[in-house]
Amino acid sequence: MSGNSFGKIFKITTFGESHGEALGVIIDGCPSGIEIDIERLQKALDRRKPGQSSPDGKLSSSVTSRKEPDKAEILSGVFEGVSTGCPIAIVVKNTSQKSADYSNIMNKFRPGHADYTFYKKYGIRDYRGGGRSSGRETLARVAGGEIAKMVLEQLLPSIKIIASTTEVAGIKATEYDESQIEKNSVRCADAKIASQMEEKISQFRKEGDSCGGIVECRVSGMIAGIGEPVFDKLDAELAKAMLSIGAVKGIEFGSGFESAKMTGSTWNDNMSMKNGNVNFLSNHAGGILGGISNGNEIIFRVAVKPVPSIFKQQQTIDIFEKETEILIEGRHDICLCPRIIPVVESMTAITLLDLFLQNRNSSLYNTEGIKK
Ligand SMILES: Cc1cc2nc3c(=O)[nH]c(=O)nc-3n(C[C@H](O)[C@H](O)[C@H](O)COP(=O)(O)O)c2cc1C
Repeated sequence: MSGNSFGKIFKITTFGESHGEALGVIIDGCPSGIEIDIERLQKALDRRKPGQSSPDGKLSSSVTSRKEPDKAEILSGVFEGVSTGCPIAIVVKNTSQKSADYSNIMNKFRPGHADYTFYKKYGIRDYRGGGRSSGRETLARVAGGEIAKMVLEQLLPSIKIIASTTEVAGIKATEYDESQIEKNSVRCADAKIASQMEEKISQFRKEGDSCGGIVECRVSGMIAGIGEPVFDKLDAELAKAMLSIGAVKGIEFGSGFESAKMTGSTWNDNMSMKNGNVNFLSNHAGGILGGISNGNEIIFRVAVKPVPSIFKQQQTIDIFEKETEILIEGRHDICLCPRIIPVVESMTAITLLDLFLQNRNSSLYNTEGIKK
């Protein structure tokens, strides 16, 4: 299996399966001298865990009931709390593998999941919880992402990467109040709409079904000039980062697919000067032009499909290609949006940091004409 690494200079390689011994990440290219805050790393992992998206920390209606500590151990690359420039290895042991939940489906393919394609490709599959295709793999990305954020903040202290749920089962947020995001179980910035989303998710839980949604990510405090045309454009790299997350099925930047209905005069972000700084009068581009950040807020949205594992009888086939029926048990999310949010933020941080580091080779002079 190739394809377990992401990034060129700041590069993560993730390993591990949902019900194996452990999952983890190896980070190559982390600069030396960065303070690695282990408590902060642990908090980031805790935020990705199931059931963390409600203010009281109680299991919310939208997520799986798998509970384990997800304790991060740093095995290398950090000495006396500071990165040494050597590879950083972080490992998290699996402790709540209820593999018996999966014995009834060991020979059957779950519709909507990666069981059939993994089996066709590798001829063998770890049926327990999806193995490598499990959402639990994203734990390693969040660990890598938190380290990326620690470096990124040194390079650009003003940067802020915030994702939130903007749509669940067709129910759309209309307000954006960042302070609300961590106060409801769906991680929506619109408190009123959040409770409607929560109700809808509870309804799906009762029906044994699941639902999809949309997650929006905003990166503020950015500078212009980040992104490597032509194949490593910032939007192309972010798209790859997002589409590599399980269940993410689409991405749009700024006005995205609505752009198809607009005219040049309504789409173009006119420019002005404000207090000596370049100021865009709108942001249809989502902060990226020609694959390079323009200094405006980067804004993109990802479409998240309904959780494949539902608690209804479904029609499928088994590994002998015989038609059969499947009833899934175990612990599964209902709506993935709140759980995908920390992953979206982490993959954004990794992508941006990698392009920041690549940008150091792009010119001897920065845009102000000052030698770097
Ligand atoms: C954080 C996270 C949690 C997930 N939890 C579940 C789950 O509990 N049950 C499930 O069937 N799929 C879950 N998924 C989705 C599957 O991993 C994903 O749909 C599957 O690997 C197939 O890949 P694809 O949807 O990208 O085609 C989760 C994904 C993520 C990112």
